[in-house]
Amino acid sequence: MSAEVSVSIERDADIVTARHEGRQLAAAAGFSSADQTIIALAISEITRNIVSYAQCGKLTLSRMDEGGRRGILIVAQDDGPGIPDIDLAMRDGYSTAGSLGVGLPGARRVMDEFELVSAPGKGTTVTMKKWLR
Ligand SMILES: Nc1ncnc2c1ncn2[C@@H]1O[C@H](COP(=O)(O)OP(=O)(O)OP(=O)(O)O)[C@@H](O)[C@H]1O
Ligand SMILES: [Mg+2]
Repeated sequence: MSAEVSVSIERDADIVTARHEGRQLAAAAGFSSADQTIIALAISEITRNIVSYAQCGKLTLSRMDEGGRRGILIVAQDDGPGIPDIDLAMRDGYSTAGSLGVGLPGARRVMDEFELVSAPGKGTTVTMKKWLR
């Protein structure tokens, strides 16, 4: 079984594909149905942000096995405009698009590890991990 999947993200249909691939990989890794849904939700939010703010990017999903700890690694990368103030972007209710502003903070809440690296003109990379327990 291949342990890594990449999905190129350009349009709404790619978000559906990404969510589906995430669910599949999470299931194969042994996550419960509830956790699969949570993982799909986080993937949905970060890939929707790519389509909305960066136009295109890439999602990479892989299984982790680090010293007996197993889980799923999700990396979303784009070369879009980047985020000038990360603390602000991570705040509940902050949106530059007049939307709810809950995508990034929501994804952070449901995953075990969450890292956002971004700068104006340098694109955005979101790295998220969830461990099996
Ligand atoms: N990949 C990205 N590239 C550039 N800016 C981004 C990216 N992802 C998020 N942002 C910025 O961070 C803000 C907060 O993102 P977040 O997903 O939390 O909320 P939202 O997309 O505005 O609303 P919601 O996700 O609730 O519909 C966005 O409004 C946008 O300005
Ligand atoms: Mg969003």
